[in-house]
Amino acid sequence: MEKWGWGVLQIMGVLFLFALFFMSKSSPAIACDQGGESRLKTYIVHLKEPEGGVFAESENLEGWYKSFLPARIASSKQQERMVYSYRNVLTGFAARLTEEEAKEMEAKEGFVSARPEKIYHLHTTHSPSFLGLHKRSGLWKGSNLGKGVIIGVMDSGILPSHPSFGDEGMPPPPAKWTGLCEFNKSGGCSNKVIGARNFESGSKGMPPFDEGGHGSHTASIAAGNFVKHANVLGNAKGTAAGVAPGAHLAIYKICTDEGCAGADILAAFDAAIADGVDVLSVSVGQKSTPFYDDAIAVGAFAAIRKGILVSCSAGNYGPTSASVGNAAPWILTVGASTIDRSIRASVKLGNGEKFDGESLFQPSDYPPEFFPLVYSPYFCSAGTVNVADVEGKVVLCDSDGKTSITDKGRVVKQAGGVAMIVANSDLAGSTTIALEHVLPASHVSYSAGLSIKAYISSTSHPTASIAFEGTIIGEPSAPEVIFFSARGPSLATPGILKPDIIGPGMNILAAWPTPLHNNSPSKLTFNLLSGTSMSCPHLSGVAALIKSSHPDWSPAAIKSAIMTTADILNLKDSPILDQTEHPASIFAIGAGHVNPLRANDPGLIYDIQPDDYIPYLCGLGYNDTQVGLITLRTVRCSEESSIPEAQLNYPSFSIALRSKARRFQRTVTNVGKPTSSYTVHIAAPPGVDVTVKPHKLHFTKRNQKKTYTVTFKRSSSGVITGEQYAQGFLKWVSATHSARSPIAVKFE
Ligand SMILES: *[C@@H]1O[C@H](CO)[C@@H](O)[C@H](O)[C@H]1NC(C)=O
Ligand SMILES: *[C@@H]1O[C@H](CO)[C@@H](O)[C@H](O)[C@H]1NC(C)=O
Repeated sequence: MEKWGWGVLQIMGVLFLFALFFMSKSSPAIACDQGGESRLKTYIVHLKEPEGGVFAESENLEGWYKSFLPARIASSKQQERMVYSYRNVLTGFAARLTEEEAKEMEAKEGFVSARPEKIYHLHTTHSPSFLGLHKRSGLWKGSNLGKGVIIGVMDSGILPSHPSFGDEGMPPPPAKWTGLCEFNKSGGCSNKVIGARNFESGSKGMPPFDEGGHGSHTASIAAGNFVKHANVLGNAKGTAAGVAPGAHLAIYKICTDEGCAGADILAAFDAAIADGVDVLSVSVGQKSTPFYDDAIAVGAFAAIRKGILVSCSAGNYGPTSASVGNAAPWILTVGASTIDRSIRASVKLGNGEKFDGESLFQPSDYPPEFFPLVYSPYFCSAGTVNVADVEGKVVLCDSDGKTSITDKGRVVKQAGGVAMIVANSDLAGSTTIALEHVLPASHVSYSAGLSIKAYISSTSHPTASIAFEGTIIGEPSAPEVIFFSARGPSLATPGILKPDIIGPGMNILAAWPTPLHNNSPSKLTFNLLSGTSMSCPHLSGVAALIKSSHPDWSPAAIKSAIMTTADILNLKDSPILDQTEHPASIFAIGAGHVNPLRANDPGLIYDIQPDDYIPYLCGLGYNDTQVGLITLRTVRCSEESSIPEAQLNYPSFSIALRSKARRFQRTVTNVGKPTSSYTVHIAAPPGVDVTVKPHKLHFTKRNQKKTYTVTFKRSSSGVITGEQYAQGFLKWVSATHSARSPIAVKFE
């Protein structure tokens, strides 16, 4: 749990359980067999594509797969050892094997590799309108709310009876849909939830109900229907809706609150690709690994080959540098930022100072008076607090990463405290979370905490009051990068700028499968959650809207449209800030904050065909076997043109620069007016000369392509900042459009 040492547990309270716990998954198969069965692990076995192509019948394929199992496994036991036979996502299968058995297969002709599966982790009302989506205008009108598009959600399942998944106004599934529904007839699928399958191996055969809540929450963010009068404990009231309320949902359960197994993830991709989804939303991940050894990267590659866009959470491992995951260039990698809504509990001090804080618990009967204010790290931990010290007082606590904030509240309440103020750690900075506290409380920023402590030590009788101001909309500093949002550069692919984009991920109201209280009067249950798990489905919804209005665009084209039109300014027209309240680096925001309306009409796109990734993968230094694990076909890098990562036709740049100049090409496609002219605008990173040739692009047709070259060179004169990284951008501007590409430079 080291990585959470700086206060994450603390702030997240119960909301981040899914993203936080590291689990080792035990399989039900373990107990019921004899003879070393406890040494069985699920292996993912890759094979060479059979001569003469694929098997038409799935029995033939499975029979061929079983022929790879070691002979010492009796044929009567083979069936129970096989976990999955994959068809679309890879040539191979998942099976329960001992290490020796896995090794034994290596000698077989056609065997490529066998690796133990990895375990991955699960990492809204107002957010659509914050994104500029309104019922009768703009993109929702233009894209018909995403009608006809199918969003596959790979998560912890769903509660299909939640009002957010009602199918009022929904047409039947499109003809291409061939997926299954594992709910029974009375309690399950509809024209909203058109498919639902359980790939969570711990509960196979059970319908894919969502016990934890994460899956219902993310699915409703992407495509929840309109639900009036949504709220959480009376706060954030309004009509709840997903980003693409007209889109269909296909649910693939791959996770429990204990994690998500690699073999299950691959099986869900395998099914989703065959079923006919258009967009896949995957709020699941792990730390960076090479793409050939990453179930999500491998599954996503098979998906984009079929024209399916895959949107993934960047991870909650920030603000540490190089913490971003799900960074394959064929994935849309999404970081998280705030929205302009807060559920305010402001702190007033006896000296007149006032600080904004947040709390989901908004007591209506809390008196506006000042109480004595006390601070000691010992006052907020069970066992070290003295009733005499805190009774009748407002207690200031630090978020310390050991005890959750809400648990500190319990301690303070039990000891007779009147209220609690929680100050953030330095690392969490300005990120405050509206939590369901057990006593009147306010969560304030690190800098507010410092001021409050300074006040306490400046006077012999410090006092404080808390004012519960309810839901406030219009916070001008939004969007602001949240401290936990994972940061680039990517370890797996430093030559691709990641994350790609940021979107809403803080205090997001969305569907919840269970009442928050036993005595909740209503079945309309919603919950506020925070995480890149929440920002990812926002982008999945945006991708569905764009897909609906541009059905012929490739996943790379949709990604490019989202990235080149992103916002880099906040609501008060200043650069987007991070949790330190300084301008966020491009390793935090990528191309910037999603602007759905502009993304639907980008003017130019940077397209990439699936085969274009092959020279990129060879250029990453992967050998032929490793490239083949991703591309599902035999590749000989010696016969391919291998390219540096930054030569991929990506809508952003991340380059390493020594004394020698580096030159790259990009090809843009005109998707705006047939006749249009673009001029390049360059903001060169400090210490770098950037030259673009030609500097004007003139188009006469729609879908016409033009290529330009860009050269990066260290400035001979000018600024040498001594920094390791520098950032800038280049932007193609016409009378009506602009397409911006951020540039990150690493000096080597
Ligand atoms: C269908 O599923 C629901 C929810 O699990 C259950 O309550 C109901 O008994 C099931 N109906 C049948 C006919 O199995
Ligand atoms: C690629 O590298 C892996 C791991 O080092 C190795 O097992 C495999 O044999 C290599 N393949 C080729 C074709 O060199």
